[in-house]
Amino acid sequence: MGKTIAIYPGSFDPVTRGHMDIIERASKTVDHLIVGVLVNSAKSPLFTVEERVALLKQVTAQYPNVEIRSFDGLLVDFARASGAHILIRGLRAVTDFEYELQMAQTNRVLAPDVDTVFLTTTLEYAYVSSTIMKEVARFGGDLSSFAPPEIIQALCKKMQEEKEKNKENIL
Ligand code: PNS
Repeated sequence: MGKTIAIYPGSFDPVTRGHMDIIERASKTVDHLIVGVLVNSAKSPLFTVEERVALLKQVTAQYPNVEIRSFDGLLVDFARASGAHILIRGLRAVTDFEYELQMAQTNRVLAPDVDTVFLTTTLEYAYVSSTIMKEVARFGGDLSSFAPPEIIQALCKKMQEEKEKNKENIL
């Protein structure tokens, strides 16, 4: 039997404890896990793709079978090019389900040989999202439950830079 290669795709803008929980658990169930960071997210990311990849590398360094790569275009094309037949997605709550089901069904039509596997997020992180974390950061809230210190530091620095940029634009 060949190696089981899976892809855990996302925007990771930036990585949260919720993502890290899925990465840790998925890495135990497959031989090789590729975390795929989408280059051109429709959500116009706060961090560049290089920054998102670098932050993910920092927080996953302890897992020898986890690789961080960026991708552009269709996820199933990236999966095929990587030799992966499994896509991993985390489900936090029922609100995630409709979008996730639609994506999984679309990917299945595009590539019947690639299956999506859902992991339910550990309850402790079920409320965590990059979007909410950025919102809390914007207003100076406590981020320690959302992400490890190195991510919080990068996020606060980025927010500060954004503020400076906005100030320059106003002046
Ligand atoms: O972290 P996100 O933003 O919820 O991740 C969404 C992602 C990256 C998995 C999704 O947008 C994606 O796969 N984009 C690549 C383009 C693609 O393949 N689209 C067709 C399937 S919907």
